[in-house]
Amino acid sequence: AIVVVDFGSQYTHLIARRIRELRVYSEIVPATASWETVQLINPRGIILSGGPASVYDVGAPEIADWIIDSGIPVLGICYGMQALVHKLGGEVVAGDQREYGHADLSIAADDDGLLSGLSGSIPVWMSHGDKVERLPGNLRTVGHTNNTSCAAFTDGERWFGLQFHPEVQHTPDGMSILANFVKKICGCPGNWTPGNFVTDTVKRIQEQVGSDRVICALSGGVDSSVAAMLLHRAIGSQLTCIFVNNGLLRHGEAEQVQETFHRNLGLDLRYVDAEDRFVNRLAGVTDPEVKRKTIGEEFIRVFEDAAGELDDANWLAQGTLYPDVIESETPENRTSARIKTHHNVGGLPEDMNFELVEPLRYLFKDEVRSVGLELGLPEDIVYRQPFPGPGLAIRIIGEVTRERLDLLRDCDRIVLEEIRQAGMYRDIWQSFAVLTDNRTVGVMGDYRTYGYACAIRAVNSDDAMTADWVRLPYEVLAEISTRIVNEVPGVNRVVYDITSKPPGTIEWE
Ligand code: XMP
Repeated sequence: AIVVVDFGSQYTHLIARRIRELRVYSEIVPATASWETVQLINPRGIILSGGPASVYDVGAPEIADWIIDSGIPVLGICYGMQALVHKLGGEVVAGDQREYGHADLSIAADDDGLLSGLSGSIPVWMSHGDKVERLPGNLRTVGHTNNTSCAAFTDGERWFGLQFHPEVQHTPDGMSILANFVKKICGCPGNWTPGNFVTDTVKRIQEQVGSDRVICALSGGVDSSVAAMLLHRAIGSQLTCIFVNNGLLRHGEAEQVQETFHRNLGLDLRYVDAEDRFVNRLAGVTDPEVKRKTIGEEFIRVFEDAAGELDDANWLAQGTLYPDVIESETPENRTSARIKTHHNVGGLPEDMNFELVEPLRYLFKDEVRSVGLELGLPEDIVYRQPFPGPGLAIRIIGEVTRERLDLLRDCDRIVLEEIRQAGMYRDIWQSFAVLTDNRTVGVMGDYRTYGYACAIRAVNSDDAMTADWVRLPYEVLAEISTRIVNEVPGVNRVVYDITSKPPGTIEWE
């Protein structure tokens, strides 16, 4: 494995992802991590990330002694490079001005290490203020740019540094450079495939839970589905999944989950029909946050009731992903990860008496999808667009009633049918309908109508933090509009939401 030491760069995740794309497992650790925890990963190489600090800042993150003492190859990137030079006794100085963006790297003719296979001049992406003035010991410069006399260095075996960012797309040869480090220099074989992940994880789950019973809240979303499949592969009938139909699901969703997981894949699935409970609790509720809270609380009650019937279960499986883990990671909770992990299943309370099993804890979303395919999950589960826990309730402006849920479900089904028909479903982050509480006047035939306006929302995003509205073709919008107004009585107007996030949010509530 390759361990990526995080000095706070916005690109740290990206480094780990790139290494994994080379089929080598990599994990991110904080700069303050101890060798005791790092050695569990069994690293063959260390990458020091960039970061916003200057090595002379008070409290600037430092290179831990284990990085120097471990004896394995170290690649410093940007701040990581400067901190390494500083630690090894060289000199780093504040640059006259920040260098940001494109630069051309001239490669020394004799580098057969990091820059092996590359020659002449290659475009690279810079982002730094300080620069290396003098290299310590037997380190030598193997690449420079117009502004940076030392943009790449090595001692030929143990120490490597790059002032630019090989992990970003703007450095087109970045992957060959990282591959040189990981494969040639560190000797990693590149056998971290979805298939091997499944084999290893199945073994680990079997060791972890033994002959105990495990329960899993299955929503039909990608994460809980893949987690459930891994558990099923590992422990078969010791796993019981609970699927709660809260009445806030999309058209056909509850049937699809039962069909896929119970009938086709053979999982032990308890279907809990809680439609009435949720709809009754939501009567008269119009405030978005109260809706969320009400739904969250009711979910806990329903889940506790269902889990209570399985009183011999002492493990709870969750589909927690790596980005959530990195967010909450500190050196202290690394060693005791289980205790501090947040339950992500609709906010289950901490005092439920379960130990957690989280087989996806070290995976990014796209890796979860590959594992899902490897496990034989159908593509319509693996490539499903995200759907919020509170479901259609936060897409109905105003009170949630059975009638309005049915209206929205029909509108939403038409949107998804047409988006699929246009071959756009997988390329869109989320696409859905919103039922507004505005009624407007229309005319159908010779009659005046007075019905609800339905809004269509389609956005693209990488991580839901920011989003842009999708430029849907007019023909697709026209088809959606015509079908909704004709097929859904009670809705007589369709509008398209052209707000990005920020300033809008993806959901309307
Ligand atoms: P917003 O509307 O905040 O949504 O831009 C960002 C992403 O989060 C989803 N979302 C939720 N998911 N419970 C969830 O599980 C919620 O209460 C919730 N609210 C928003 C939303 O669908 C989008 O993907």
